[in-house]
Amino acid sequence: MSSQQVDHFITKISSFAATREAKDWRTLLLSLVLSLLALALTAVYLDIRRGSNRPPPPAGCRRLGIDPERSNFRDQFDSKYGKKLAQGDGATCRVKALTIHPIKSCYPVELSHGEVVGEGMRYDRQLTFAQLISSLPKAEDPKVSHQWTFMTQRANRNMTKIKTEMWVPDPSSPTYSPDGEWVKNDGCIVVSFPYVEDDKSSLIFKLEQMGNYIRRNLLRQRGLDCHGPRIYFRVPFHPSVERIKEKGHTFESVKIWTDCPVALNMGIEIDPEILEKLRYALGMSNPVTLMRIDPNRYREVFRCAPRKGEGVSYQPIVGMQDAYPLHIMNFASVQDLAGRVGNAIDKLDARRFRANIYVTGAPAFAEDHWKVIRIGKARFHVACRTARCMLPNVNPETAERHPAEPNKTMKAYRVIDEGANPHACLGMQMVPFSNEVQEIKVGDEVVVEEVGEHFYIKQS
Ligand SMILES: *[C@@H]1O[C@H](CO)[C@@H](O)[C@H](O)[C@H]1NC(C)=O
Ligand SMILES: *[C@@H]1O[C@H](CO)[C@@H](O)[C@H](O)[C@H]1NC(C)=O
Repeated sequence: MSSQQVDHFITKISSFAATREAKDWRTLLLSLVLSLLALALTAVYLDIRRGSNRPPPPAGCRRLGIDPERSNFRDQFDSKYGKKLAQGDGATCRVKALTIHPIKSCYPVELSHGEVVGEGMRYDRQLTFAQLISSLPKAEDPKVSHQWTFMTQRANRNMTKIKTEMWVPDPSSPTYSPDGEWVKNDGCIVVSFPYVEDDKSSLIFKLEQMGNYIRRNLLRQRGLDCHGPRIYFRVPFHPSVERIKEKGHTFESVKIWTDCPVALNMGIEIDPEILEKLRYALGMSNPVTLMRIDPNRYREVFRCAPRKGEGVSYQPIVGMQDAYPLHIMNFASVQDLAGRVGNAIDKLDARRFRANIYVTGAPAFAEDHWKVIRIGKARFHVACRTARCMLPNVNPETAERHPAEPNKTMKAYRVIDEGANPHACLGMQMVPFSNEVQEIKVGDEVVVEEVGEHFYIKQS
């Protein structure tokens, strides 16, 4: 455009702008922009309000775990961790990552260091959600029986969307007081789960969705996870005797595999309305509660575990774990499996296997033959291999379940233990030799003290 043309254009525009018609247009445009802005602000406000039911940090406590951005799983797919058994180059085996699951079958909490105690990692799987299963009355026996039964991702993959934060009493916290509610109850678990109102046609819902979209995509707010808004609640980690009396908790039996320990029913710690929403989010039709293992009634472990006196001074115990106190995985083995699974699963996350200790530096499947290992000062009896179920088919980040993998590939080459047949095996189950508190941390060397044969003993 020449400058003359530009001048002509500007003159035309200004003469138009001076007309009454143009003033109307401008007013219309301005009010349109203003209304859109108001709508967007309302949407963001509603969304923030919806997301703001996050409770304040529990007084006197500190949150355990490392920032997801510094996760030790970030580089788990790096080929430097994949080692073949034949070419073990003598690299040192080290702890790469540590995780706990304060509530069984929920999303893990990643640690940089942790404490090993008799029943496994401290704070691991002390609680479990449970559903009340009722028998159908029969003609010959009209009595209906009810049994709390543990809940697992095996049956309900959406449990991986339940996140837990572990908060522990910390005397150096500015809000610490020995009489503080959470301090007296051995800390607090902040539980959250994704929830959206059902009425998807309502204007408020649509506005909230829009606010969530604006926040996520335009404001790029960090830390907002892909599952959208969440509902939060807090429960004491280990209710004190006074709290149990005051709140009226009951001790009831909960079925976990073949065991039925008497545990603390902590359901009344959860607001009934929130519990209803949790049931809805998980698609449960039975009543749901939260059960805590009673430290006086840990479940004793036999099967492949050593007997009291056979190198251990106590009969090994577990909380709400499936079978053994600790579970260890080798990144190289997961990478070997991932390579064979191929494109069926883009990135096979080691966290699908829900271990406590993840190691690097050992060749793939070297752990299959470990019998005794030491990490720092803690020595472990490697009890048996881990017989695998369908749980690793669930993606822990999205709760999507792959119809076949990695089960199919594992079945093809990891049915390696006579006793576990027809199950495939990956990872090892361990029992600490001592039930004293022992610290382990990321970077600790894993010293293999003894290797040998393994034979899996099934649950009878
Ligand atoms: C899990 O959540 C998804 C998406 O929210 C839903 O479609 C599915 O039915 C849920 N599964 C169960 C077992 O409730
Ligand atoms: C696991 O894979 C095996 C081998 O492909 C298959 O026979 C079996 O049905 C699978 N299990 C499930 C529960 O899909």
